[in-house]
Amino acid sequence: MDAEKLLATFDDKIDREIRIEPKDWMPEEYRKMLIRQISQHAHSEIVGMLPEANWITRAPSLKRKATLLAKVQDEAGHGLYLYCAAETLNISREEMIDQLLSGKAKYSSIFNYPTLSWADMGAIGWLVDGAAIMNQVPLCRASYGPYARGMVRICKEESFHQRQGYEILLTLSRGSKQQKAMAQDALNRWWWPSLMMFGPNDDASPHTAQSMKWKIKRFSNDELRQKFVDVCVEQAAILGITIPDSDLKWNEERRHYDFGEINWDEFWNVVKGNGPCNKERLDARISAHENGAWVREAAMAHAEKKKRKMEKENLEKKSDVKV
Ligand code: 3HC
Repeated sequence: MDAEKLLATFDDKIDREIRIEPKDWMPEEYRKMLIRQISQHAHSEIVGMLPEANWITRAPSLKRKATLLAKVQDEAGHGLYLYCAAETLNISREEMIDQLLSGKAKYSSIFNYPTLSWADMGAIGWLVDGAAIMNQVPLCRASYGPYARGMVRICKEESFHQRQGYEILLTLSRGSKQQKAMAQDALNRWWWPSLMMFGPNDDASPHTAQSMKWKIKRFSNDELRQKFVDVCVEQAAILGITIPDSDLKWNEERRHYDFGEINWDEFWNVVKGNGPCNKERLDARISAHENGAWVREAAMAHAEKKKRKMEKENLEKKSDVKV
């Protein structure tokens, strides 16, 4: 088929909500857009393990520790599904990891903030995983098959993460005066960075329009951020803690909550690598990669040994058939 026909077939599939699969023809820009988003997403899951892993050894009970451990392991799994989905677009895992470790690739700004108290485990679950769900449920309908299918399982697990976080905050908010203060302090520190997770405002987002045209993103950054704010207000009221935004109020005309201006200087500063924990996070990933070199080498050697054994067995079978 010539280029025009290929493009027409691709556009028709997008229009008719038929998934694009790895072996289908796709415009180069669509492939690049997906690699960019999926690999950034994968890196976010992997780097996202670090702030919470910090609290595994200090969880207040065995039950909390087991739950947090499971959650952090889930994030590792999410990273792996996403790297696999990106690999179907003709980029290697090594190349993506290299982009992360060299500081070339982006990952979510939210993971560059420190986790100072146990209440932060609650705030991360409630707000960070809550924002992730808001952003990622529509991605289950993304036009690229492997990404959309991966997102289905990821969203189910994120939903458990969100509830475990909310339950931690609910327990703290019904506890002592000090525990309630911890919950409020965590909300104060995580609220604005959580709103930043949705990305720049629509008029400052270079990718949204094309991504929505290709049905990768189904909603814009601002639409999702607004939905998130609307949901959180009621959840905060149940917890009895106050969202740190004096401009937050119901707008009867819009049927949504108005909220204050996000500090975009802070956002871009964190994205550019100058957040409170950017260096710490990258250093941790680099040292994990270096310390894991022997595991990768051993796995490769084992795979090679298995391959040779199978080749030998196949040869023997063939010579048996001849006899
Ligand atoms: N942190 C870091 N970079 C961000 C960002 C954020 N919060 N928001 C946007 N950016 C970057 C974009 O990646 C893009 O950079 P690039 O041009 O160098 O690639 C630039 O800022 C402009 O932003 P756009 O809005 O134009 O970019 P997108 O259309 O890609 O939208 C997005 C950004 C909404 C994050 C979108 O990529 C997306 O939906 N990604 C999938 C979900 C995801 O990656 N979530 C990250 C959190 S994962 C997570 O939360 C783990 C869970 O376990 C808690």
